Amino acid sequence: MLGSQRPRFQEDRPNGAHDPRERGDTALTKKLHVKTYGCQMNVYDSARMADVLAPLGYSVTHSADEADLVILNTCHIREKAGEKVYSELGRLRPLKTQRQAEGGDLLLAVAGCVAQAEGAEVVRRAPHVDIVVGPQAYHQLPELIARATRAAAGPGAGPGRGIVATEFPAEPKFDFLPQATHAQDVSVFLAIQEGCDKFCTFCVVPYTRGAEYSRPATDILTEARRLVALGAREITLLGQNVNAWHGDGPGGGSWGLGRLVRALADGVPGLARIRYTTSHPRDMDDELIAAHAEVPQLMPFLHLPVQSGSDRILARMNRRHTAAQYDAIVARLRAARPDVALSSDFIVGYPGESDRDFAETLDLIRRTGFAQAFSFKYSPRPGTPASAEDPQVEEGVKQDRLAAVQDLLRRQQDAFNRETIGRRVPVLFEKPGRHPGQLVGRTPWLQSVHAEGPTRLVGSEIEVEIVDHRPNSLAGRIVTRDAEEARAIGAAA
Ligand code: SAH
Ligand code: SF4
Ligand code: F3S
Repeated sequence: MLGSQRPRFQEDRPNGAHDPRERGDTALTKKLHVKTYGCQMNVYDSARMADVLAPLGYSVTHSADEADLVILNTCHIREKAGEKVYSELGRLRPLKTQRQAEGGDLLLAVAGCVAQAEGAEVVRRAPHVDIVVGPQAYHQLPELIARATRAAAGPGAGPGRGIVATEFPAEPKFDFLPQATHAQDVSVFLAIQEGCDKFCTFCVVPYTRGAEYSRPATDILTEARRLVALGAREITLLGQNVNAWHGDGPGGGSWGLGRLVRALADGVPGLARIRYTTSHPRDMDDELIAAHAEVPQLMPFLHLPVQSGSDRILARMNRRHTAAQYDAIVARLRAARPDVALSSDFIVGYPGESDRDFAETLDLIRRTGFAQAFSFKYSPRPGTPASAEDPQVEEGVKQDRLAAVQDLLRRQQDAFNRETIGRRVPVLFEKPGRHPGQLVGRTPWLQSVHAEGPTRLVGSEIEVEIVDHRPNSLAGRIVTRDAEEARAIGAAA
């Protein structure tokens, strides 16, 4: 599906590995391999961990085999996501054993939400792990690595050092993480908010990421200017609950996300596109909806998870809104920005979900119309209220409901993409494609587009006529009405 070009969930991508970047500095001797699971916040955090470790001499490698330090940045959201980490740790064990037998070493760190949720349990299940580090403690990595390295030198060192850092420190990690200094991708993430106070009954995030924290506006504006100076043209503002962001404004007082979006659009020259994710329906306030109407840089695409179309289930999930309230938000958004496209998350088979509840979810999808969406079978998570609720829905029923929801969503997504064929849309080119002479970019609605064009157009936003719809992307032809520009880029005018 088109949305999977930059998946929200790393577990869904065919090659789950993500390396924040690779450096070619030969003076650096140590190699770091980061494998990222889970959401975009983890992708952002993996890049920050690489930034923290760069001054220690670590350069990033795509291969665990040549790494001196492997960090698994993990996700705990569903059971399958959590269990993946242990199979990966199992695969890494012989590599570590071999290194130690040769008199060398391989440091293994588990970061992210499994680290936070399971803590010392990770070391009990995988004793060859050296460091378990929670998402709020990444700025402590240099010290943790130094401790692990010292422990290795001592007599009787075990296969792993088992250092666990999962406390929520008093200082916000953002104040201690270094800023990026290297060339940036065209489209980048910027974390503005972390944690969640909503406590939906199915969800581990409030426990793994802690209480809501909003970064001050000035810090965000400074980071955005730096990212743009280093080559970024599109910024996706990140938060577990991004539209609950309420940071300190530059002159005192508290700002909301709508105000921040305006400040970024007005105060960061060269920033062509702004997006934000993930939002909660309850925090879609008037100021933010107005920004969709008035800020051209704010893209007409919104990921607004609803989870279910049944009021009974929404109440049991502690979502604190009804299906009709969701409809009303969608209507207000569409009134503000008629071409806004919507995305959502759905959970099927929540405890007690009846056929009727499920039919209401299908109804909501039909009447809303989504450009893309993610859907999941409910997965009971230890310690969350829903895991103790009755009755749990049978696996076969969950499977059937997931298939039905995905079929409907796929048809809506196909219709949405087909509808762009023949239209001229602005595409921000992000990188060269796999074939020579090909470029890959995105429409304002997050659809991936392939078109022929010179590499120097990477980073430019250009009119493209959509000519075809393929399974994973749209095919386009660069067009421009400006004859001079057309000659320069060899495109049709
Ligand atoms: N606001 C967060 C939500 C993280 S969870 C964000 O930044 O994306 C992402 C999605 O995973 C949720 O919207 C929900 O649809 C799904 N999810 C969360 N807990 C789940 C569980 N226990 N079982 C199945 N799906 C779950
Ligand atoms: Fe989880 Fe709900 Fe918070 Fe989203 S709003 S992170 S689903 S608790
Ligand atoms: Fe997973 Fe943690 Fe993100 S549980 S979805 S990595 S916030």
